[in-house]
Amino acid sequence: MWEEVAAVNALPPPPLRPDPVLKRPSEFSKAEFVDFETLVRRGFDGSDGGLPARLRRANLLAYQAGTEGEWVGIAALKRPHPAYVREVARGTGFDLARTQGELELGWVFVIPSHRRRGVARQLCTRLLGRVEGRAVFATTRSDNGAMKEMLEALGFLRVGRPFSRRREALVLFVRPGEAGRSGPASPEAKVGG
Ligand SMILES: CC(C)(COP(=O)(O)OP(=O)(O)OC[C@H]1O[C@@H](n2cnc3c(N)ncnc32)[C@H](O)[C@@H]1OP(=O)(O)O)[C@@H](O)C(=O)NCCC(=O)NCCS
Repeated sequence: MWEEVAAVNALPPPPLRPDPVLKRPSEFSKAEFVDFETLVRRGFDGSDGGLPARLRRANLLAYQAGTEGEWVGIAALKRPHPAYVREVARGTGFDLARTQGELELGWVFVIPSHRRRGVARQLCTRLLGRVEGRAVFATTRSDNGAMKEMLEALGFLRVGRPFSRRREALVLFVRPGEAGRSGPASPEAKVGG
């Protein structure tokens, strides 16, 4: 049996469709919402009953599928609620100015068998390309080395102090927009570690 498991693990992961799908929530079919929500719930413990409404409120939703149509990864540009943005700003001590709090990169999740193949990078790069010039923020658990590394590679800067939300230690990253290149999320505001 273990030989069988090892043999399966040694197989190359199934091929992916050449491009991820990026859509506004209004363009999503019911089936796509179900698939997206399923992966959000798989990736994020804190997903509650308000999730469907938050999905519909997003700016853009993205997913990567395999050639058989199975979903392997998701990411989104969320439009966070102002109260949440204020909470993050209070917690981190970083003044997420109005334009910096409008878009949040989140719900980035890739199923374990497809990790380290560039799926998350491709999803996030494509999403950010659609809002080029606009500021985007992201939060991640302070111990999530993979996400922190990827955000920095995508041009996000770590800002503010770590903060606690729903018993998780989180850190804030901001990718400045055109207007904020020399503003509060400039490298001078970066916090080390
Ligand atoms: C974080 C996550 C989305 C990365 O997905 P992925 O498709 O494996 O990432 P990619 O292959 O596109 O890697 C992009 C970059 O992320 C970083 N990275 C990804 N996995 C990493 C790991 N295990 N350790 C360190 N860095 C890592 C690297 O910088 C990598 O670039 P590189 O391949 O040139 O080194 C995935 O591990 C995941 O779904 N984790 C659980 C959910 C989660 O933590 N989501 C983020 C919540 S905010």
